[in-house]
Amino acid sequence: MSASPRLNPQFLSAWLRNPLQMGAVAASSDELANAMAAQVNADSDLVIELGAGTGAVTSALLARGVAPSALVVVEKDPELARQLAKRFRSPLVITGDATRLQDLLSRSHDRPADAVVSSLPLLGMRTLTRVRVLAQAFAALRPDGRFVQFTYSPKPPIPGPLVAALGVRGERVGRVLWNLPPASVWVYKKID
Ligand SMILES: C[S@@+](CC[C@H](N)C(=O)[O-])C[C@H]1O[C@@H](n2cnc3c(N)ncnc32)[C@H](O)[C@@H]1O
Repeated sequence: MSASPRLNPQFLSAWLRNPLQMGAVAASSDELANAMAAQVNADSDLVIELGAGTGAVTSALLARGVAPSALVVVEKDPELARQLAKRFRSPLVITGDATRLQDLLSRSHDRPADAVVSSLPLLGMRTLTRVRVLAQAFAALRPDGRFVQFTYSPKPPIPGPLVAALGVRGERVGRVLWNLPPASVWVYKKID
């Protein structure tokens, strides 16, 4: 993890390849990664991380105590995915698009997840892509599972009408100033 909000060469290369897909100017800081990981139970059976990038949140989830065998990491950028697989030998790293999450998981995991932890640039996505990603993410979750997402925006990372359509509710659980730029962490759960 980066000890502070600083430029990471892997992140910079990926950003130069595809700035819109990265949706950020820097890798997540330790503080943000830890704030995300703190929302996940260490004894979870299955945690899915979306948009793992350079692995800051992956590292924080493992440090939190999530078993490597319980963690599945999805990253669309093939070069970042290759580097994640090299750095983290135990969690399964899947190179793929989160809009196809169910498909990607069906090859390895057929049980619902305790948590989906997302660094995806949701608000920068086209509406249809965002809807697809979120529908797939909530379909992958247990009824009481948690969807954890950060945002740089003062607004929620899932727009109100989509929250209603998905049948979920969300709350901001933290604000991390020591990140470039400062970010908020949100947790969404399905409404019973
Ligand atoms: C904000 S960056 C990652 C931040 C990460 N926590 C870090 O510290 O590097 C967002 C990541 O989401 C990935 N991404 C964007 N759209 C995606 C999609 N549809 N499916 C999977 N990954 C995606 C990008 O390639 C990028 O690595």
